[in-house]
Amino acid sequence: MMLRPQPSQRAFVPFVSVENMMRLVHAIGVERFIADLAGHIEADFRRWPEFDKTPRVASHSRDGVIELMPTADAESYGFKYVNGHPGNMRAGYQTVTAFGVLSSVSTGYPLLLTEMTLLTALRTAATSALVGRYLAPEGAQVMALIGNGAQCEFQALAFRALCGINRLRLYDIDPRATEKALRNLRAQGFEVTACASTQTAVEGAQILTTCTADKQFATILTDNMVGAGVHLNAIGGDCPGKTELHPDILKRADIFVEYPPQTRIEGEIQQLDPDHPVIELWQVMRGEVPGRRDARQITLFDSVGFAIEDFSALRFVHERIRGTDFFAPLDMLADPDDPRDLFGMLDRAR
Ligand SMILES: NC(=O)c1ccc[n+]([C@@H]2O[C@H](COP(=O)([O-])OP(=O)(O)OC[C@H]3O[C@@H](n4cnc5c(N)ncnc54)[C@H](O)[C@@H]3O)[C@@H](O)[C@H]2O)c1
Repeated sequence: MMLRPQPSQRAFVPFVSVENMMRLVHAIGVERFIADLAGHIEADFRRWPEFDKTPRVASHSRDGVIELMPTADAESYGFKYVNGHPGNMRAGYQTVTAFGVLSSVSTGYPLLLTEMTLLTALRTAATSALVGRYLAPEGAQVMALIGNGAQCEFQALAFRALCGINRLRLYDIDPRATEKALRNLRAQGFEVTACASTQTAVEGAQILTTCTADKQFATILTDNMVGAGVHLNAIGGDCPGKTELHPDILKRADIFVEYPPQTRIEGEIQQLDPDHPVIELWQVMRGEVPGRRDARQITLFDSVGFAIEDFSALRFVHERIRGTDFFAPLDMLADPDDPRDLFGMLDRAR
C-alpha cells in the first residue's frame, strides 16, 4: 500500500478560528487584551514612516462594500479582508465580517491566518480609546454611545480600560439593540442609561461615540448637539456616501485622522474641501503635534479604520498564540521537497 505523502512542516500555517480567538481573548481578559493591543497600535503609529501605505482597495456595490487592507514593514506583511453591509442585519447577517493574514516579507510565506470579525471590533475599540487618551477632555466620565450594534460594547470596554469611563448613555433607532447593549454592559459593571433620542443621550457626556450603520449620508449628530469641550469618536462613517455628522460640526472641530488619503475618500471629511486641514494621529502619538490643547476645544477622531491597526492586531495575535493551543495548524501551502517539483508532488499524491 502506498503511503499518502505527508506535508512538510513549512506547509502548515497557524489558523486562529473564531472559537480559538474567543478562548484567547478570555485567557487574557477582554479589557487587558484591548489595552495590550492598544499598546501595539500605539507603537506602530509611532513608527508610521516605516510602513508601506495605501488607501484600502474597496469594491462597492448597491448593498455594501468589500475591502482589502494591506500594509507592510521591513519584516512582515499583513492584509485584512473586510466587508460592510448595513442591510445585512435585517437578514440575520452581521454588518461587518473579516479575516486576515500575516506573512514573512523575506519569504512571502504566510505566518498566520486568523478570523478578524472579533479582532476588528477589538482593534477598532482599542484605536478609539487610544486616541481618546490623547484627545478626550480631562476628567471625562460619561460617554454617549449612538448605535448599539456589534461594535458598541467593545467601544465601552476599551474606553473603560484606557480612559476610565464607566458611565454610558445609549441610543439606537432600534430599541432592541439598546436593550441588548444595556444587558451586556450592566453585566460588565457599567452604569448605563438607555435614552429616548440622540439629543438626550449626548446630554452631560464628554465623549460622543457614533457607531451606526447606514449607507446614505446620515445625520446622527447635528451642530446643536455638540457643545464646547467634547471629544467626538465617529466610527460609523467609513465609506463614500456613508457619514454620520452634520458638516457644520466638522467646521467647529479639530479633526484627527489615521491616513489622510484614505480618510478624505471615506471619512466624515469627504463632506469638506479636499484641502481642509486635518491632524495626523501618528504625529500626535510621537509628540510632534499637540492633541487636545484646551478645555473648550472640540476634537473629532474621524475614524475609518486603517491597515496598520490590523497589522498591529495580527502581530499581537501571532505573538500571543505562541506556546498555546489557541490555533490549529492548517495544511495551507503546497511546499514540495524539491521547490521546483510542484507537479511531482501532485503526481505522487495520486
Ligand atoms: N472605523 C472603523 O474602524 C470601523 C470598524 C468597524 C465598523 N465600523 C463601522 O461602524 C458601524 C457600526 O458597526 P456595527 O458592526 O456595530 O454595525 P451594526 O449593524 O451591528 O450596528 C449598527 C447599529 O446602528 C443603529 N443605527 C442605524 N442608524 C441609526 C441612527 N440614525 N441612530 C441611531 N442608531 C442607528 C442600528 O439600528 C444598529 O443597531 C458601521 O457603519 C461599520 O461599518 C467602523
